[in-house]
Amino acid sequence: MRRKLVVGNWKMHGSRPANAELLAALVAARPYGGDVAVCVPFVYIQETAATLAGSDLRWGAQDVSAHEQGAYTGEVSAAMLAECGCRYALVGHSERRAYHGESDALVAGKAQAALARGITPIVCVGETLEQRDAGETEAVVKRQLSVVIHQLAHCASEIVVAYEPVWAIGTGRTATPEQAQSVHALLRAQLQAATGHGERMRILYGGSVKADNAATLFAQPDIDGGLIGGASLKAADFIAICRAAN
Ligand code: 13P
Repeated sequence: MRRKLVVGNWKMHGSRPANAELLAALVAARPYGGDVAVCVPFVYIQETAATLAGSDLRWGAQDVSAHEQGAYTGEVSAAMLAECGCRYALVGHSERRAYHGESDALVAGKAQAALARGITPIVCVGETLEQRDAGETEAVVKRQLSVVIHQLAHCASEIVVAYEPVWAIGTGRTATPEQAQSVHALLRAQLQAATGHGERMRILYGGSVKADNAATLFAQPDIDGGLIGGASLKAADFIAICRAAN
């Protein structure tokens, strides 16, 4: 039985007072039925850690360097994230792929760097609307995931996967539960074939998950929780989504 996981991706949002209020509300609303985490901007990780320490809520980063250390201005290493108690790091979010030119190979390197420091990479995959319309969804997500699986080899079963169709992110246009489920099922089959552990690995759905559609999405057999953008910034909405993962 896979335990559900709901992760808030704050993206480039937040302020110290707003974060304090949001995190206090999340802590106060515990317990949740599954695992809950927030991936916050780097500069807020330490405060988030201080607030959530001692609770069962986890925290993480939205990116991580593929390099261990060195002259990489602006980068943050997995060792630094581990020092701040991060459990998770998002890698290969579509916004990083699109706006920062991240390749499948770089994403795989980031996943490997995170794992080497005991941080679970949440590997994001997903097709654009153009690719979906061209019937390329399966090929695109499988390729994105296979590069990571290949690089991680025997450690590949330690990742979390997030399927985030690009056309559903921030658009209010969610994949239907059936659309999401069918991609999750093929990703799980790929993970199972490659690692032998696909049945226990978690595959999250992301893209316009809201309080009112979360339960139906999470009820699909291969959807193990969500990666939540906009709705993770509002305490009441995020709490409702976390509860829907029960
Ligand atoms: P929204 O929930 O705002 O669509 O964002 C999804 C996402 O990109 C999470 O990583």
